[in-house]
Amino acid sequence: MTMEEYYGASLVKLNYAEQILKKTASTYTGPRMLDGVQPILYITTRIKHPKSMVEKLERYQLATDCETALHTMHDAVGMRVICSFADDVYAVAEWLKKQEAFTVVQIKDYIAAPKPNGYRSLHLIVRMNDPALDGLSAEIQIRTIATDFWAALEHQIKYKRQVMYETVMRQELKRCADEIASLDLSMQTLRDILHGDSRENDMSA
Ligand code: GTP
Ligand code: MG
Repeated sequence: MTMEEYYGASLVKLNYAEQILKKTASTYTGPRMLDGVQPILYITTRIKHPKSMVEKLERYQLATDCETALHTMHDAVGMRVICSFADDVYAVAEWLKKQEAFTVVQIKDYIAAPKPNGYRSLHLIVRMNDPALDGLSAEIQIRTIATDFWAALEHQIKYKRQVMYETVMRQELKRCADEIASLDLSMQTLRDILHGDSRENDMSA
């Protein structure tokens, strides 16, 4: 089923919401902008594919039509903000909370409390404020490039693994996730040292 067939007239709204999200995030002007390190590496947006949406609705034992999807699910429109360092994730979230284009209605902090499989990410569920969007929701996922690397590969592996290897796969993925979290901490420390150094240089200049 195509996007047009499933979402019908609502597709225009979903596209519009997608644009607003991207435009807003790309004007980020939070901390860390001045010391030469990019806090946001890249931003992606997507409209959930009808097939995934129908599968999700079936999982929740709900009707699978577009109306139900848009009223009960909050991730028909999604944005990912990929950051350099762990600190940037929270700085970006704080900044996004203050934007007028949308209102944050829920925060899921899978960094403070990772999922059992090791998934780490900060999710914001937002309500779009443009009256033309009739209170449409969207999901913003914010994470570091290292945790995004893990999530992208885990997403592919999870649908392919054979039952025989399931336990060991799960354990290994979890181990990789924890190692990546540890790498993120080390990288953050390097970055903090660099930041401290550049501040000292500024002061002595
Ligand atoms: P669904 O997982 O979409 O049914 O929604 P939910 O209401 O359970 O919310 P949750 O916060 O668990 O997940 C929302 C989205 O986060 C998913 O659609 C994925 O994009 C992402 N996500 C959540 N958990 C994982 C995970 O274990 N691995 C990966 N790769 N992505 C995940
Ligand atoms: Mg889920």
